[in-house]
Amino acid sequence: MTTIKTKEEIKILKEGGAMLAQVLDEVEKNIEEGVTTKYLDELAESLILKMGATPSFLNYHPGGAPRPYPASLCTCINEEVVHSIPSERKLKNGDLFSFDLGLWFKKLCVDSARTKIVGGKGAKIAEKLLWITENSLYEGISVIKEGAKLNDIGHAIESYVKKESNFEIVRDLAGHGVGYKVHEDPYVLNYGRKGTGETLVEGMVLALEPMITEGTWQIKHSSDGWGIETQDGKLAAHFEHTVAVTKDGFDILTEI
Ligand code: MF3
Ligand code: CO
Repeated sequence: MTTIKTKEEIKILKEGGAMLAQVLDEVEKNIEEGVTTKYLDELAESLILKMGATPSFLNYHPGGAPRPYPASLCTCINEEVVHSIPSERKLKNGDLFSFDLGLWFKKLCVDSARTKIVGGKGAKIAEKLLWITENSLYEGISVIKEGAKLNDIGHAIESYVKKESNFEIVRDLAGHGVGYKVHEDPYVLNYGRKGTGETLVEGMVLALEPMITEGTWQIKHSSDGWGIETQDGKLAAHFEHTVAVTKDGFDILTEI
């Protein structure tokens, strides 16, 4: 069942979301050749704690996962799609790097992810994949309002990606409700038929997170039990915002 948050809860989620955006800004500033993904994870974790919040991914153990997630940040390089565990691996110029972070603040949680190219310049295809993915997130957000249908979101994302590129959309993973828990109902698919699915209502809080691939949309699990990669080894990008449904539109909670 999709939960409805009160006005007061949305206010807290917005405060938590602003903190999360600040931490992601700080992580972003530290992305450069030679930096390890573990360094970025430790940076994110210490900033979250300093703000009086708590990382929400650390020790998260959903059913089906082989073990609790062992870090605060998810750090995905090139063919890695989501949930890759930070390590001593160093970033290289031109890497397509996505980083995903969540936090608890006053018993409510928010979730957001971004993708960057290390050093600012990469292959043309990586640059295109990045901006198509980012734009697709905003296309999905733009159709949100009370009375719209859940799958209008996926429809908007899919139509945009198909119109602008030959890229594919990861189909086995989706966005989700968020707030009281890291993952709540409903699944927010990144494709779908307009006018179908549950009706959006003011106070619903959704994490939209398109995951777009250069080649096949099919994914595989990495040997660490958490990381997810493209099956063909081609690039993937990922952007995510936590968004509240309002009477006449939406409120992006994870930006400043
Ligand atoms: N934003 C990610 C998602 O919704 C959060 C994953 S939790 C983790 O799937 F534990 F896997 F990091
Ligand atoms: Co998420």
